[in-house]
Amino acid sequence: MIMKFLVLHGPNLNLLGMREPGIYGNQTLADINFLLDELSAELGCEITPVQSNSEGELIDAIHSSVHDCHGILINPAAYTHTSIAIRDAIAAVGLPCVEVHLSNIHSREPFRHTSLIAPVAIGQISGFGHESYLLGLRALFSRAKNF
Ligand code: DQA
Repeated sequence: MIMKFLVLHGPNLNLLGMREPGIYGNQTLADINFLLDELSAELGCEITPVQSNSEGELIDAIHSSVHDCHGILINPAAYTHTSIAIRDAIAAVGLPCVEVHLSNIHSREPFRHTSLIAPVAIGQISGFGHESYLLGLRALFSRAKNF
């Protein structure tokens, strides 16, 4: 059976490429999804990427993933620091989840140092630019096999 993963991109990540490139890099979201697709082909899994600027849509995507996904790779963006609702949705579906960030949230402003998502994730990968996503997918793939 082929493993399938929901890849969730939170608010403002649709602007990657033009958004504060000194912090988030020059890759667009399409570039990152393309690289994730290439890696999934290499690993032998499938990804469904979803980007939303709305908390409710991200929660709906998490709820739907329980029917056909084996795990969640999420960059919750600013909702990392604020959303009890996204955290509760991840806990509710019970799927293995890896949290990723392009920037190192721990070396930035103090309000970014807290993640409400981290306690319900297997782990967090932060600070490696677009490679955070690729490292995150590898980690999720290897953990989800044994979940
Ligand atoms: C981010 C870090 C968050 O603090 C910020 O709000 C984002 C992007 C990252 O990928 O580095 O939008 O999640």
